[in-house]
Amino acid sequence: MRITGRTRLAGIMGWPVTHSRSPALHNFWIDEHGIDGAYVPLPVAPEHLAQALRALPTLGFRGCNLTLPHKQAALAIVDRVEPLARRIGAMNTVIVAPDGSLEGRNTDVFGFRENLRERAPDWSASAGPAVVLGAGGAARAIVAALIEARVEEIRLVNRTLARAERLARDLAAPATRITIHPWSERDAAQREAGLLVNTTSLGMTGEPELDIDLTPLPLPAVVVDIVYVPLETTLLAVARKRGHPTVDGLGMLLHQGRPGFEAWFGRPVQVTRELRAAVLTTLGATMSAPR
Ligand code: ATR
Repeated sequence: MRITGRTRLAGIMGWPVTHSRSPALHNFWIDEHGIDGAYVPLPVAPEHLAQALRALPTLGFRGCNLTLPHKQAALAIVDRVEPLARRIGAMNTVIVAPDGSLEGRNTDVFGFRENLRERAPDWSASAGPAVVLGAGGAARAIVAALIEARVEEIRLVNRTLARAERLARDLAAPATRITIHPWSERDAAQREAGLLVNTTSLGMTGEPELDIDLTPLPLPAVVVDIVYVPLETTLLAVARKRGHPTVDGLGMLLHQGRPGFEAWFGRPVQVTRELRAAVLTTLGATMSAPR
């Protein structure tokens, strides 16, 4: 670690923030590049969010990431919001401009796209309909990424239909048809699909398992889970045994950090095997997990 009078600062605001892996991620890159910088956890209660964000330029911060529960509230506080984050209805990255104004971005779309590109390079938007399980905040970013990739049909499967309908309305785009399916149709919705993405918390350590039958899913289809604890969820293990290319959730978390880091610290960064190992160590997992 190199800390001088010119240290560049960034951090993550959340409440609570102790669970966040972002400090491990960004400080790995800071060390790797020998940057005079630091990335710190910033526990900020919801009622202090505006005050804390406004203090960033005064304290010399280049910006910050945002996690629960701040991703929506911050939209109304910053000076500019990129159109993508506005459409999704959430931002996870704040950039302090040279004049001290604050810009809000959503880098989860970038994270999902780059992770899929890296881990499933043979997938293409023309492979068939994409099935998205869940309609929460993560699903919004993933649907936006699939629209950006020009997938023709997205089948949105969610327990609460009204939430899926709202998502489809908010993100509607001319080149993509979004169809809504009740949770009971999660098996049938996979027919002819080219991609299956779990955006729910089901399958995460401490949560119920994702109860799904992959039999209807055509074999070349790619299976993605955004859950990364455990790294290989039951969904991914079953998919891998059936012969599907699988993509775990850790890469999305790592890639989503890149745009912020590059803006704050002025260096392009990559997601390497060493980085995955370093962040996995903080999760208590090991590199013995597949891939
Ligand atoms: P995030 O912002 O991480 O996406 P979220 O907004 O809480 O988290 O969304 C969680 C998603 O998991 C939702 O789609 C939720 O379904 P509902 O919209 O019906 O709440 C889904 N989910 C959570 N527990 C579930 C369960 N037991 N069965 C089916 N879906 C579940």
